[in-house]
Amino acid sequence: MRISENVSLRSYNTFGISSQARFFASFSSVDELKYLLENPPLPELSTLILGGGSNILFARNFFDGIMLKNEIKGIEVVREDDEYIYVKAGAGESWHRFVMDCIANNRAGLENLSLIPGNVGASPMQNIGAYGVEIKDCFHELEAYHMQDHTLVTFNSADCQFGYRESVFKRKYKGQFAIVSVTYRLSKHPKFNTSYGAIEEELKHMGVKELSIKAISQAVINIRSSKLPNPAEIGNAGSFFKNPTVDAAKHTALKEAFPNIVAYPIANGDYKLAAGWMIEQCGWKGFREGDAGVHERQALVLVNYGNATGDDIYRLSQRVLDSVQEKFGVELEREVNII
Ligand code: FAD
Ligand code: EPU
Repeated sequence: MRISENVSLRSYNTFGISSQARFFASFSSVDELKYLLENPPLPELSTLILGGGSNILFARNFFDGIMLKNEIKGIEVVREDDEYIYVKAGAGESWHRFVMDCIANNRAGLENLSLIPGNVGASPMQNIGAYGVEIKDCFHELEAYHMQDHTLVTFNSADCQFGYRESVFKRKYKGQFAIVSVTYRLSKHPKFNTSYGAIEEELKHMGVKELSIKAISQAVINIRSSKLPNPAEIGNAGSFFKNPTVDAAKHTALKEAFPNIVAYPIANGDYKLAAGWMIEQCGWKGFREGDAGVHERQALVLVNYGNATGDDIYRLSQRVLDSVQEKFGVELEREVNII
């Protein structure tokens, strides 16, 4: 385990931002993490746990602390019964590789979450979701290391307080825990979820006769590849903002003023608004200033065309946020973690 100094973070974040970390180290076991925390290169250093860097914006040129990259690997079956198989994965496993492993072994539940970048350890952080499924639907438990108390704590689903792109780790316990493993409960008898409009259409387009988790996964991969920019080609962190929620009265008022507004009713009578639609209506889609921009096919995604700084992206996000507030009276919230 080596602690490096003044490390470029460019290859450690999918935005491709050239920030630097004062100190940087990787760990591949809980013992290594414990050692690094107990033997910091300087006292009182702030610590950040890094996964795949696909939901992070390094807004400053320098991170004056120690960044610890989680490389804990391993996928193992821990329990099974007639219905379910419980699979534990190390936090440093690639999320997509884990999903592919589930599919190859006929373990159902996560197929709609194919091709989401990042690592298993970050999947509960914001309860990742796509195409009608969120990880909370298959989550069993996780183990997390308390970085101040030096204890290993197990969290069940209720403990995690999952919500839309939310968990207790982004709120009450922010910065306190390093997630080291996550156990998912996969089904032996799949319940296919193709309710998200584009999936049915893509399955038809693919000529799928018999539905399977593999076919759903491939349909999701195809849709995602056509819609979202590949970070290997253009720097980005997926949706930069969350889709906001408004109450029924606000929705009615918006619908009168903007008849084409894209909104979905949700369980409690509120409505979720498509932020991408609102951002597009404000004229941002395809906008570019220097190397910071708004993606030309998906206005919810901010992009780095090469040499944008974190501050360039952050300032652009503020302008987008302000214009949506001004036009629609709706406040957007950033989904990406600003460091
Ligand atoms: P990082 O970016 O490394 O970290 C994210 C946050 O979690 C940071 O605050 C970090 O400190 C913390 N963290 C990371 N690992 C740990 C750990 N082990 N313990 C404690 N804290 C930790 N998200 C969705 O929900 N749905 C999507 O459909 C989706 N599509 C995307 C598409 C693209 C092209 C991109 C680039 C991103 C997309 N995302 C999506 C966002 C992102 O992929 C997820 O949020 C992913 O889970 C982030 O994982 P990561 O390992 O890269 O986390
Ligand atoms: N839209 C526009 N213009 C745009 C973009 C979108 O009008 O530029 C409209 C679309 O036409 C559609 C609606 O907005 O009617 C929703 O768009 P889309 O289906 O592309 O989904 P999204 O709301 O942009 C969300 C998630 C994604 C997830 C997809 C699929 C959030 C913040 N984003 O995107 O998650 O993959 O649905 O489920 O909830 C992420 O979190 O990083 C992410 C990519």
